[in-house]
Amino acid sequence: MRHLLSAADLTHADAVRILDTAGQMAATQAREIKKLPTLRGRTVVNLFFEDSTRTRISFETAAKRLSADVINFSAKGSSVSKGESLKDTALTLQAMGADAVVIRHQASGAPHTLASSGWTDGAVVNAGDGTHQHPTQALLDAYTLRRHLVGDRGRSDATGRDLAGLHVAIVGDVLHSRVARSNVDLLHTLGARVTLVAPPTLVPVGVEAWPAEVGYHLDEVIADGAPDAVMMLRVQRERMSSAGGGFFPSPLEYTRGYGLDAARLAALPEHAIVLHPGPMNRGLEISADAADSDRAVIVEQVANGVAVRMAVLYLLLAGETTTTRSTQ
Ligand code: CP
Repeated sequence: MRHLLSAADLTHADAVRILDTAGQMAATQAREIKKLPTLRGRTVVNLFFEDSTRTRISFETAAKRLSADVINFSAKGSSVSKGESLKDTALTLQAMGADAVVIRHQASGAPHTLASSGWTDGAVVNAGDGTHQHPTQALLDAYTLRRHLVGDRGRSDATGRDLAGLHVAIVGDVLHSRVARSNVDLLHTLGARVTLVAPPTLVPVGVEAWPAEVGYHLDEVIADGAPDAVMMLRVQRERMSSAGGGFFPSPLEYTRGYGLDAARLAALPEHAIVLHPGPMNRGLEISADAADSDRAVIVEQVANGVAVRMAVLYLLLAGETTTTRSTQ
């Protein structure tokens, strides 16, 4: 694996290798071996053109726990505000030596451009691009689902798929969500059934071609589909206003139709868990009751993100070559 650009590029074997490696990384952390020497002398650049709390800190923590040197670049306060391009920014960071570039960018496709441009010699990891992809989020979500609902070693059915038999409902602002797109790709590869639940105005054009079912009524999907997990999506108000708005149900309508509250939580199967990639709009897509309930694994998702990102950096920079569908 040369780069990690999209969850759609991962074969089942790639994904399982990352999840298994993340399990080994988590085990070292549990044994309080906080720092591994694996990436000593390597440099990881965090190149963030969009805001982030979890992803940026988690990649930084992961790289440091593997003993890599870390350069954190945030567009805010940099020469990007003077008009410097992605190309010149990347060339500048490459001149300082980058073995891996973790990039978040508001433009869908920016990580692909960087990976194919020759502006960096390093492995490129997509930390979220526009509304397109966020592959490490999908990996940490799959890791969390596996740990809670399947077991650390995964569960293969006759088709050999790791999350076979699981039903995951992904609920909310699918239109703007790179988390939804990445999860649909990865969960499908891992054999899970996925139902997208959203108001019609927040369902993307062309969703029929996605490997997922679509529902418009959360209560029906909970009652009829008995999902093993519900993944609540953040309502991305900032992307709606930049697109001119006008298609968002009112916040009250949204919460009534699609918000996860105590009543809907109680209607889920007893074993079902609640995920949210963060940051949460408490009171909009998820109530405080639901976010803080025993069923919510939202804080654990953050911790799992470190193990998954350690695995990704390790496999890209120090691991064996794996097979991907990507030609990158
Ligand atoms: N889940 C996620 O990408 O969160 P951040 O925007 O805080 O990185």
